[in-house]
Amino acid sequence: MDYLPKNRLLDLTGKTAIVTGAVGIGYGIAYRLAEAGANVMIAARNQESLVKTTTELISKGYSVKNTRTDVSVESDVKNLVESTVKEFGGIDILVNNAGVFPNIPVHKMTVEDFDKVLSINLKGVFLCSKYVSEIMIKQGRGGKIINITSIDALHPSMIGLAHYDASKHGVWGFTKNLALELAPHKIWVNAVAPGGITTPGVQKMQGAPPPGVDMNKIMEGFLTQIPMRRMGEPDDIGKVVLFLAGEMASYMTGSQIVVDGGVLLT
Ligand SMILES: NC(=O)c1ccc[n+]([C@@H]2O[C@H](COP(=O)([O-])OP(=O)(O)OC[C@H]3O[C@@H](n4cnc5c(N)ncnc54)[C@H](O)[C@@H]3O)[C@@H](O)[C@H]2O)c1
Repeated sequence: MDYLPKNRLLDLTGKTAIVTGAVGIGYGIAYRLAEAGANVMIAARNQESLVKTTTELISKGYSVKNTRTDVSVESDVKNLVESTVKEFGGIDILVNNAGVFPNIPVHKMTVEDFDKVLSINLKGVFLCSKYVSEIMIKQGRGGKIINITSIDALHPSMIGLAHYDASKHGVWGFTKNLALELAPHKIWVNAVAPGGITTPGVQKMQGAPPPGVDMNKIMEGFLTQIPMRRMGEPDDIGKVVLFLAGEMASYMTGSQIVVDGGVLLT
């Protein structure tokens, strides 16, 4: 076996990545992939945050573009994939990160609340994987698909997230089956399961609790359970995604890496 030189294990020069989600964990992932040399296409719904993140990363000298996309809308995802191929000439890495986690107890949850979470978190992963894997198979040079699940894909982190937990268990099941399907094409499919990460989404959840729910108390309780005694940062996830996107993880597919400061141990 040939040993790839150490400095090439995390080098993504010449590769193109799509990252869904422009802030929080999405920013951390886009930053690390772009720093490693990849062309990065950022896809998110919010135009303002797309422009802000893209401008920031370009100012660091990285190759970054964006396409406004709602991952739950098929025509948006088709357009994202087409514009990435047009701008960068192909796709090597897809990171399915965009997701929502509104806290709502089931007895207060509407059908629309349930459908929205499943549409973005699970159908969005399906749509992006469908159109990107089609391109990767055609290109014939393999690829990496990395799905951001959650510790909630394995065990509930707090009440009020039943719809979210259903979606994330779904993404984990989807990841394993897709890994099996795409292995003959040298497309490796893995998942990263974050614990509590400080992001705009978590801050929003803390700031707008459902009636009768003391979100600060829930979050305080969650924090005291973390063996590392701190919330994670987006870069804690970005670094693990970089590991899966490069050659360090050359013999991994169908795996889920838990990045939670040890919280699942408690
Ligand atoms: N933050 C955490 O503690 C945590 C823990 C476990 C898993 N996760 C997962 O990590 C991912 C990112 O979480 P975050 O905390 O960074 O969230 P965030 O709310 O801070 O950012 C989410 C990003 O996704 C984008 N987005 C939302 N809906 C979209 C849609 N329909 N189409 C396209 N883009 C859309 C938003 O515009 C935003 O850029 C999610 O899948 C989430 O479930 C987060």
